[in-house]
Amino acid sequence: MMNPSGNSVMLACDHGYFMGPTRKLENPRETIKPLVPYADALAVTRGVLRSSVDPTWNVPILLRVSGGSSILQQDLSDEGLTVSMADAVRLNVCAVAISIFVGTAHEKQTLLNLAKLVDDGQEVGMPVMAITAVGKELEKRDARYLGLACRLAAEIGANMVKTYYCEDFSRVVEGCPVPLVVAGGPKLNTEADVFNLAHDAMGAGAKGVDMGRNIWQNDHPVAMIKAIRAIVHEGASAKEASDIFAASAAGKITV
Ligand code: 5RP
Repeated sequence: MMNPSGNSVMLACDHGYFMGPTRKLENPRETIKPLVPYADALAVTRGVLRSSVDPTWNVPILLRVSGGSSILQQDLSDEGLTVSMADAVRLNVCAVAISIFVGTAHEKQTLLNLAKLVDDGQEVGMPVMAITAVGKELEKRDARYLGLACRLAAEIGANMVKTYYCEDFSRVVEGCPVPLVVAGGPKLNTEADVFNLAHDAMGAGAKGVDMGRNIWQNDHPVAMIKAIRAIVHEGASAKEASDIFAASAAGKITV
């Protein structure tokens, strides 16, 4: 899942497991197909992998294996494991991903889910990504909280952690002994906001992104992922990424 640059652009398309047919991911195959050539890994659920990912696409799969709550619940933290390790192996995925909800009513349950997944993964050599989920409480995303959640995930044995970017993100990175990638979160106001987020996260020590809505909810998703790749793999600035986005969206960059 890691590019030779040592970093990764993971394309997150697993939102349907709790959001249903969310905007621009109503038909997962249509959304995913044009983006696959630019993704170092594709984050999906078992159902989308089976129904909407063509085996010939040849992209590493990061399989979402936690769930159990939907957006109809006020508290999204009541999750369990939704896929066995045996099926993850059978589906030939490269890693499995699970949310933990630190500081919620289901903190212990989700941390023990992670511990079980790491144990099961050890049996078969399957890497585990922990996701420091915040549910609907987006305001939780600060360095103190995310630093705690990421560290807990690493201590329990996650091989990699996905978290959110925040002010003082280098504190989160420094306190987490395994690689971190950042999610994009709900769609930001401008493309420049997304490029700044990715650039600042990389500058603070992130190993890449696992980004969804800010790519595929954009009117020019391929241009977005190309620009993000330039930041993650080539160290492009946010301004250079904006130029790549503009040129690609205008059809001036076709590869
Ligand atoms: C959904 C997830 C998403 O994969 C994660 O939030 C990244 O997607 P986005 O960039 O849209 O936030 O974990 O539960």
